Amino acid sequence: MTKSKNNEKKEKINAAVLGATGVVGQVFLHMLVHHEWFELSMICGSHNRAGKAYGSEVHWVLPVPMPQPVQYKILDTLDINRLKEKDIKIVFSALPADTARTIEPMLRENGFYVFSNASALRYEPHVPILIPEVNPEALEDIKQQGFPGKGFVVTNANCSTTGLAVALAPLRPFGIKEVFVSTYQSVSGAGYPGLSAVDIMGNTIPYIQKEEEKMNIELKKILQLDARVYPHCVRIPVLFGHLETVWLTLEKPIDKIDVLEAWESFTFQGSPCPTLPGQPVVYMEDEHFPQPKMSFWGTPPGMQVFTGRLRKEGDKIGFTLLVNNLVKGAAGGSIANAELFTEVKYENKKNCG
Ligand SMILES: NC(=O)c1ccc[n+]([C@@H]2O[C@H](COP(=O)([O-])OP(=O)(O)OC[C@H]3O[C@@H](n4cnc5c(N)ncnc54)[C@H](OP(=O)(O)O)[C@@H]3O)[C@@H](O)[C@H]2O)c1
Repeated sequence: MTKSKNNEKKEKINAAVLGATGVVGQVFLHMLVHHEWFELSMICGSHNRAGKAYGSEVHWVLPVPMPQPVQYKILDTLDINRLKEKDIKIVFSALPADTARTIEPMLRENGFYVFSNASALRYEPHVPILIPEVNPEALEDIKQQGFPGKGFVVTNANCSTTGLAVALAPLRPFGIKEVFVSTYQSVSGAGYPGLSAVDIMGNTIPYIQKEEEKMNIELKKILQLDARVYPHCVRIPVLFGHLETVWLTLEKPIDKIDVLEAWESFTFQGSPCPTLPGQPVVYMEDEHFPQPKMSFWGTPPGMQVFTGRLRKEGDKIGFTLLVNNLVKGAAGGSIANAELFTEVKYENKKNCG
């Protein structure tokens, strides 16, 4: 039993993490091991790791120590009966897209609530790409998948899209007509082991497979935007954090102060969800910032989007943003989605018997 921010007692909900040994999986474990609402009841890597201790199998890459309770936790087999035996309700997926494409629908069919980082089901019409601060109404789509009678899949966006969508959400009232965005993406975005050091050390790769297409489609789906989106996605030799430079064409003639006020008044101070930031966008006055080295800054760490270098040129507004690709852009985003679901739907369902 635990207390939420509004002091109500909640029974912890049993959760599993799939892909727990991967880079995103590591963040899930770091964030879930002491979570107030969710119990980390089961962890899985690929099949050949089942039965082995997590600490002996994982190649831990995060800039924080591996939590002690997970070091000796045994990796399980991904099996529907095992999930049911352990009374798991929520499944967090950090699987590669190809694997997710078969496993996630199977989990949904079997009544599980799947919160996924994989792109496999993101473009299905009734599968929401959810960012609680931006499009909480999209959670309603789980009813189209059969909830509460059945399970569902809720996805989060591609990591670069998440940062951009959060920064643009409060600017929607100004009428976004065009978005020109260039990304400077860290190597952790490619998972572990990811790119060869020979390819990326001291180098920059001006192409990331399917990334530009994902940004284009996902941004419009999340923001319900009828705009032109022009992304360039580039991999740079940085470990964590994706930097993005953005130019916008807006319908309304606005000044820099309007943008700053929109970001500042975009708040969630009263939200009971423990992982949701009270202030999703933080503007940095120092023109040398934001920088990827501050990816794990903020409250909660890694969950805020930092903006900077705001400019106005003619009818265009320009700025820079930083998103933590593994926290806000992946595991933390999924956990926040599961918290929103728990707060809005799950508790109601339980109370209705
Ligand atoms: N990295 C990011 O910044 C980021 C951001 C947003 C979304 N995503 C998405 O999140 C997912 C995970 O990304 P990642 O970067 O964590 O990748 P990763 O480091 O390559 O990890 C993949 C995980 O999936 C497991 N796995 C692989 N094949 C499997 C199979 N056939 N059955 C069961 N488990 C299997 C791996 O287990 P083993 O260790 O046992 O092989 C590992 O735990 C991907 O869909 C990715 O596109 C990543």
